[in-house]
Amino acid sequence: MDRGIVAGNWKMHGSRQFIVDYVDTLGAAVQDQSLPVGFVLFPPAGYLEFLARSLDERDLSSAVSLGAQNLHPESEGAYTGEMSGEMLKDLGALWVLIGHSERREYAAETNELVAEKFSAALRAGLKPLLCIGETEVERESGSAAEIVTAQLDSVVSYCGTDALSQGAIAYEPVWAIGTGKTATPAMAGEMHGLIRDELRQRSAELAEQVPLLYGGSVKSDNATALFAETDIDGGLVGGASLTAVDLVAIARCLA
Ligand code: 13P
Repeated sequence: MDRGIVAGNWKMHGSRQFIVDYVDTLGAAVQDQSLPVGFVLFPPAGYLEFLARSLDERDLSSAVSLGAQNLHPESEGAYTGEMSGEMLKDLGALWVLIGHSERREYAAETNELVAEKFSAALRAGLKPLLCIGETEVERESGSAAEIVTAQLDSVVSYCGTDALSQGAIAYEPVWAIGTGKTATPAMAGEMHGLIRDELRQRSAELAEQVPLLYGGSVKSDNATALFAETDIDGGLVGGASLTAVDLVAIARCLA
């Protein structure tokens, strides 16, 4: 792992005009600072190609990679409304979010389906960014560690330990997403330490290789303290990633 990652999950936001303005601002900000950070943007899938072209026109393709927010486990077939990893790769994606809590909640994605999707990402040559994290009820009942471990275990038992080295993991406590309630650095650091230990038990090399990102109300005014935690290698940013200047300000906290 030679540099940190700052990823922006746009969720269901954006338009062509939004992308034109965003890339302009990002271009100016990135060129000013030459940050030793890898950016990854996750737009809605339909905008991947337009965003890829816009980044290319501004010579930003090497600074910014693209990812999709979801995929279907099959490579093709009669699955109306779905897109496969192979198609997303064809549109310019390098990464794909797997198991985001909004998909676990609104699309009823189970740990088993998440594991299948992780495997499908690898088959398509995409880097999976596996999202794990507990709900508020689970935290309050003291089962956060158990939940997060089970989410990780189901991917490892389906895909094998080595599969994890192909991507990254984001710890996103559900209660901190879009709520303005960030986990304290100590709380986030503790969960990241637990995830790193889980990886280390499988392979010391794997534990050093896999970037662990924190997500959940990351902003430029809390990112420095979060990124100071030993086991936090970057951020997966939702709301604040919709403003290019804010995403760059967060990246500066990591640099
Ligand atoms: P917010 O930064 O808006 O809390 O979203 C986090 C997230 O879900 C990123 O995937």
